[in-house]
Amino acid sequence: MPDSLVIARDVAGLRAAVKAWRMAGQSVALVPTMGALHRGHIHLMETAKARADKVIATIFVNPTQFGPNEDFAAYPRQEAKDVALLEPAGVNMLFAPTPPEMYPPGFATKVSVSGLTEVLCGPFRPGHFEGVATVVTKLLLQALPDVALFGEKDFQQLAVIKRFTADLNIPVAIEGVPTVREADGLAMSSRNAYLTPEERKIAPALYAAITKAAHSIAHGEGPMAATALAKDEVLKAGFRSVDYIDARHADTLASVNPGEARRGNFSGRVLAAAYLGRARLIDNIQI
Ligand code: PAJ
Repeated sequence: MPDSLVIARDVAGLRAAVKAWRMAGQSVALVPTMGALHRGHIHLMETAKARADKVIATIFVNPTQFGPNEDFAAYPRQEAKDVALLEPAGVNMLFAPTPPEMYPPGFATKVSVSGLTEVLCGPFRPGHFEGVATVVTKLLLQALPDVALFGEKDFQQLAVIKRFTADLNIPVAIEGVPTVREADGLAMSSRNAYLTPEERKIAPALYAAITKAAHSIAHGEGPMAATALAKDEVLKAGFRSVDYIDARHADTLASVNPGEARRGNFSGRVLAAAYLGRARLIDNIQI
């Protein structure tokens, strides 16, 4: 019988629970989310349960990581439905703070990571990674878990989180978890809810295209040609526009050059962001 789920709305409640677990010698894992939970999120919770005695999930639609023309207002919010999924996944506590609890009047601090945030999604979403880094820093310091888990689905986000956690000596292990997909390859995402039935049929073309590109590059094809072909394929399938499809080094996110691709001695990733209707879909795959 799993413990029943406790909901904390403020940092004091969160810390009281963590303190009690610590006194009992128990380890703690944290899984931050923005809610509208799907099987990808639940897989993170279950992985967390295998890593620690107690699991805290967080749900907070973080306003500071959305641009002025992005989908903050439209972002799906369904806490009651989410809560029903958390308990069977073994989650002990939900931390679901209010915006003023996270950003009280006078709040003036930002966590900004250079380099990694200047490529891929960075230029298309100014301020996004600052918002993510700031809120994740707060969540890590509020809960001080042993480990925090994040999906490889948001590969650049995971790289940024690993970077500032190391840079700021935040005493939490960061673990990446592989992407959970629908049967047809589409990466699970809360934003898939924006797709019309027609668009939903087109959506797996993104995964198909980057998988093919990763294969070609692994077999020595030039990264430029392989990713250009992937862009064509995605647009032909019916995507509205492509922000990027790029081959990058997995750790630094620096571009893969043709010589490296030919020699094959690198750990690479093909990463993509593209619009299908009103949904901006991202995905990535190992080369
Ligand atoms: P959100 O998009 O809700 O995602 C929460 C976590 O679930 C992230 O670590 C994300 O990478 C992971 N995730 C999403 N889809 C996944 C999938 N198909 N397979 C595996 N993991 C998946 O990412 C955020 O929220 C926010 O930026 C957050 C880190 C919570 C900061 O606000």
